[in-house]
Amino acid sequence: MLRADACAMPDPRIDIDRLLRRIHALGEIGALPGGGACRLALSDEDRRGRDLVRGWMQQRGLQITIDAIGNVVGVWPGREPGPVVMTGSHIDTVRTGGLYDGNLGVLAGLEVIETLQDAGVQPRRDLAVAFFTNEEGARFAPDMMGSQVFVGALAVEDARAVVGIDGTTVGQQLDHIGYAGNDAAVAVHAFVELHIEQGPVLEQAGTRIGVVEGVQGISWTEFTVDGVSNHAGTTPLRLRHDAGYVAGCVIQFVRAMSREIAGDQIATVGALELRPNLINVIPNQAVFTVDLRNTDAEGLARAEQRLHTYVDHLAQAEGVTVSHRSLARFEPVGFDPDLVHRVEAAARGLGWSTLRMPSGAGHDAQMLASSCPTAMIFVPSVGGISHNVREHTEPADLEAGANVLLRVLLDLAS
Ligand code: GLV
Ligand code: MN
Ligand code: MN
Repeated sequence: MLRADACAMPDPRIDIDRLLRRIHALGEIGALPGGGACRLALSDEDRRGRDLVRGWMQQRGLQITIDAIGNVVGVWPGREPGPVVMTGSHIDTVRTGGLYDGNLGVLAGLEVIETLQDAGVQPRRDLAVAFFTNEEGARFAPDMMGSQVFVGALAVEDARAVVGIDGTTVGQQLDHIGYAGNDAAVAVHAFVELHIEQGPVLEQAGTRIGVVEGVQGISWTEFTVDGVSNHAGTTPLRLRHDAGYVAGCVIQFVRAMSREIAGDQIATVGALELRPNLINVIPNQAVFTVDLRNTDAEGLARAEQRLHTYVDHLAQAEGVTVSHRSLARFEPVGFDPDLVHRVEAAARGLGWSTLRMPSGAGHDAQMLASSCPTAMIFVPSVGGISHNVREHTEPADLEAGANVLLRVLLDLAS
């Protein structure tokens, strides 16, 4: 085996065909019409995806650990024992998932290790590739659940008690798919995650590699509005207590508020249920979610405050009651400046154009950042489309991103 030392750095390249084969094989599990996949966290499809990727890790001789929340880490031992240089992401998806969100980061990590093994290059430090449980939060909130437990920001008992959109708990489903492990969390020296951008910035700038400086803050709230159902044809407007009207006003309000707030405030009502949900009945209940994000912590807090004030006034005016519960709340995160610089230098060293940028989406890396130097690499998303079966990244961009990941990991592990 060659030694990977700083003074004579070996320079292998990943095998894009092998990486693409794996991305498509994983995408066959839970495949959706139009090209994407649905593997909601802790579903049977998620289990089959986990088994497939874990099998690939085992074929390459990685030492597998599974912790109590089902995070899976494959470690390739280096020449000296110590904390691992880690990469990874997630393989759960939203209901309308694409092929690359999360999956790229996990499979590119495996590809980097295979490439080094095939080239006979053994780094000094252990290299590890992880997939974290329930990054998406689409079935069980909060998102980034596994990586939060991994860094000690969420107790495993609290995570197991979370009730999902289908009434089951994380604990029940984790036990059902057989992924409640008992291995201790692996100690991490540094973490680097490769991910598709999931937005339009890189494509519009004509840039190949996004050098991610941090992740914007996220606030998820579920509102329940209780009004009075009545006949749609006979009830005068002034006598209505219409839960659906309140939900509609909030959808309109958060868009207008986002425009007004300085910075990069955005807001989405992504889930909405009306009851009884009939054409000629005024809804007596509306349950909806609001997703607020901002790169600026104060801006995010201001948006939350304005939203709650508006909802309180509206409820009073319409004569309905409103309750709410927080589903997730994360402050903006800044990545390690030295590691960000290393990502940039590695990309430029390979001849790629780079752009420093924040991440609009949540990622496991924002949790790891509290426990070790952390950074992310983005590659362009065609049309800026994600959380959609049409999500696509050109193979040349996937290859470029994976080679940047290889360089950065080798740099950190040498
Ligand atoms: C996670 O993918 C999020 O940003 O919602
Ligand atoms: Mn993701
Ligand atoms: Mn996602």
